[in-house]
Amino acid sequence: MSQHQGLNRRVFLRNAGLTALAAGAAGTGVPLGAASEDQEFAPGPNGKFDFDTPYSRFGTHSVKYDQPNRVHGAGSVEVGMGIADIDFRAAPSITRALQERLRHEVWGYLDLPSTFGEGVIAWNKRRYNVDIKPEQMIITSGVHPGLIATLKAFSPVGSRVLLQTPTYNGFYSDLTASQTIAEESPLKFVNGRYEMDFDDFESRIGPDTYSFILCNPQNPTGNCWSEDDLMRIGEICLKRRVVLLADEIHCDFVMKGQKYTPFASLKDKRIVDNSITYKAASKSFGLAAHKTAWFYTTNPDMLKKIRVQHRADLNTLGIVANQAAYAGGEDWLNQLVEYIDGNHNFAVDFIGKNIPMVKAYKAQGTYLMWLDFTALAEKIDTKAMAEQHNRTRAANAPALKPEQMLERWLIKHAKVQLNQGASYGRGGENHMRMNIGTSRRTLEKALTNIANALKPAVLSSAID
Ligand SMILES: Cc1ncc(COP(=O)(O)O)c(C=O)c1O
Repeated sequence: MSQHQGLNRRVFLRNAGLTALAAGAAGTGVPLGAASEDQEFAPGPNGKFDFDTPYSRFGTHSVKYDQPNRVHGAGSVEVGMGIADIDFRAAPSITRALQERLRHEVWGYLDLPSTFGEGVIAWNKRRYNVDIKPEQMIITSGVHPGLIATLKAFSPVGSRVLLQTPTYNGFYSDLTASQTIAEESPLKFVNGRYEMDFDDFESRIGPDTYSFILCNPQNPTGNCWSEDDLMRIGEICLKRRVVLLADEIHCDFVMKGQKYTPFASLKDKRIVDNSITYKAASKSFGLAAHKTAWFYTTNPDMLKKIRVQHRADLNTLGIVANQAAYAGGEDWLNQLVEYIDGNHNFAVDFIGKNIPMVKAYKAQGTYLMWLDFTALAEKIDTKAMAEQHNRTRAANAPALKPEQMLERWLIKHAKVQLNQGASYGRGGENHMRMNIGTSRRTLEKALTNIANALKPAVLSSAID
């Protein structure tokens, strides 16, 4: 990789002044990636993959690590805990398949192999006992193009789309693209767990509400919605003629003792026929930039309406990587899910013991944590910070929210980037989303940085 034009990591690190960081895994003294990147990522003699050794992504134009350093200044972020992708070396089946394909040096238009769809169908049958027929499915270049095409098919310009907030911030960009408006039904936080508010949800359905985007497991709150939750919300949507868009992209990350229920597996066929499901291997296998996803519905009329709104071009390497993931990556994924479960336990425990100003709970699914930073936000007065910033900002600079001030404060004082809660809709106030899809050592480094920044003595001198 280091030889490829535009991706010369060592040169980039030197230019960015990040060599010291990369030389030790965020200060742990562990070489990041350099030693092992030429060797195949293989399980050890015990059959276990090594997810523990940090693998540096600095200098790869990554949104998670390089972007915040570009935006906030070189060296400002030691650990990227933001955008939802993972820091682990890909499953060996993926790397091998890509290497093999690279040996053929022509990159013309791709005739999608039927084996791709067959792999997706086999995966869903084997792992989730969901039957998908080839004619019920559309392969696309991401969940977003699928959601946007569906909104365009069912939600006229200016109409309302239901969201249960806090929810994935990217949905708001899908609404922008389809020129629709968010109708936010806040989840309730009861006894340390988010719940759907069915009455509030139903009360928000008006004559101009045609679609609802469900997120299961829910990004950022981590809920794996139960069969009962899904039936109830599905019944409301069916009764009130609201099409249900089920985004299940995080479904492979289910923590111990929890269960992911595919919407399409519900027993009531009329409810299932009122839905479309969106999935991808991109979260599960770290393939986000390979731009491949798929959606399916048991309702042929709905699929027909979506098809005319949908246009997505596929890319060769994305198809190769995704196919190899489903064909040969399951053992890697199963081990990774177990590792992430350990990360969740570790982080909840660490925060409970060392960061009393932050409230955390263990997510049921996803590799995301939804953290309550109210105490810190009040202490540093992020509202006043935002007001001050907005009063004095340059005419061409955007106005900022208190949560964005919190994000900036953490970058400045802890060198860690988290995602600011306000972007996840109502209920995101004073919250931050933390991505823990990384090595435990990197996670520990990030949490230690935050804990140190929030120590009373340090904090009082850092209030600026
Ligand atoms: C719930 C959810 N849906 C969709 C996406 C993006 O999907 P894609 O990259 O396939 O468009 C994300 C990415 O974080 C996500 O969390």
